[in-house]
Amino acid sequence: MAKDIWIGDVQNGDYDGQDVELKGWIKRTRGSNKIRFVVLRDSTGIIQCVAKRDVIGDEAFESIASALIESSVVIRGTVNVDERSEGGHELVVSGLEIVGPVDPERPFPITESAMKAADGGETEFLLDNRHLYLRTGRMTTMLKVRSSVFGAIHNYFRDLDFVEYQAPNFVAGAVEGGSTLFEVPYFGRKAYLTQSWQLYAEAAMPALERLYTIAPSFRAEKSRTRRHLTEFWHAEMEIAWATNDEVMHHGEGVVRHIASTLLEERSNELQVLGRDLELIQRYADTPFPRMRYDEAIEILQGKGVEVEWGQDLDYSKEKILTQDFTVPHFLTHYPKIAKPFYHREDPSDGKYVLCHDLLAPEGYGEIIGGGERTWSEEEILARLDEEGTPKEAYQFYIDTRSYGGVPHGGFGLGVDRVCSWLSGADHIREVIPFPRDSRRVTP
Ligand code: 4AD
Ligand code: MG
Repeated sequence: MAKDIWIGDVQNGDYDGQDVELKGWIKRTRGSNKIRFVVLRDSTGIIQCVAKRDVIGDEAFESIASALIESSVVIRGTVNVDERSEGGHELVVSGLEIVGPVDPERPFPITESAMKAADGGETEFLLDNRHLYLRTGRMTTMLKVRSSVFGAIHNYFRDLDFVEYQAPNFVAGAVEGGSTLFEVPYFGRKAYLTQSWQLYAEAAMPALERLYTIAPSFRAEKSRTRRHLTEFWHAEMEIAWATNDEVMHHGEGVVRHIASTLLEERSNELQVLGRDLELIQRYADTPFPRMRYDEAIEILQGKGVEVEWGQDLDYSKEKILTQDFTVPHFLTHYPKIAKPFYHREDPSDGKYVLCHDLLAPEGYGEIIGGGERTWSEEEILARLDEEGTPKEAYQFYIDTRSYGGVPHGGFGLGVDRVCSWLSGADHIREVIPFPRDSRRVTP
């Protein structure tokens, strides 16, 4: 039962005047005892189909008239150019068949009004009935944008001869601090779900020199904010012989490439989401300014925000800081006490590390964290001791320094956060099909 005609192509004018067979789902239906208007949806678009009782016969007419929203159907008919119809075309129905009906005995939540209410913020409904929410225009659009973001990341790194490399998801220790580590029972021992691919990528850095991945990372984030998931998609890169500046060059490069790819592939979708394309163009074209952490603290203090030197910036502070940004900004040189052991001390001032966060504008905040790595054996041992971190779990990591270490660095980009920012979403939940947070692992 292959499908070879897509509604998007019909709406593009590829089948004007032709007899076609369309396969899809009923989005809306209305009409009388004699004529029904059925809006048919597939993954590429919608089209209005007009069914008349005296043309298609009683049986077919009754079945379409009684079919519930989201029933799957095959509809045959002739494509008419019709200015008044949404998309400019309509289908004059000659015959149809219901393939997968919706059981009327089941409480049926996906009526038009229920979906509208859901779009208006009935979040629990959406999350409980996620499989239905995925079919809404907004979510389908988000998923298409998301697909292009993933493709753009792969293309950016592959075009520069980075090798895609996979690390384990069960790990023995933390990368980003113990407080957000998920513990899992592992045959009588404890293992953890990885917070980042980084440490295992550093182990392969002497082999591959330029490597990247897109993979899930896990954080036991108790706080529920509009930008935290417990399982998120993490695009990470690691590069040998590189300084913090060179790593930032790639962070900026990949983000601008994502923006320009979206303009090329998803302009319509961005407009449907209410996004101003000139804004996205600016993100693609404009260099990202750089600012030291200390300067950001001064700006925040100048705005009356209570923040002390030495704190990592949380969402509430980044939100205030980035509200007036017109493009993403790099914040560099965070205090050493604010960052994990792997960040390299600034040789010109040991209070700081050679690192960066990239903060998205419009109040979205951090989308990238990265920097130069502590690369000599002596320094990594000292940093672990300073932190009071037991070394057993990190022996392989220390060893990579003992056997021909070289300066290197890398970053991690939160793919869901980038999707959320570029699509203008209110919440990170809107851009991932089955979001996970501290309260929800179902459906
Ligand atoms: O800043 P983070 O914690 O840095 C690292 O994990 C490094 N090991 C990455 C590296 O250098 N290879 O996380 C990197 C990015 C953040 O900037 C953010 O965009 C995203 O990952 N992120 C999250 N996204 C969604 N939900 C969460 N709970 C996230 N935690 C981090
Ligand atoms: Mg970070």
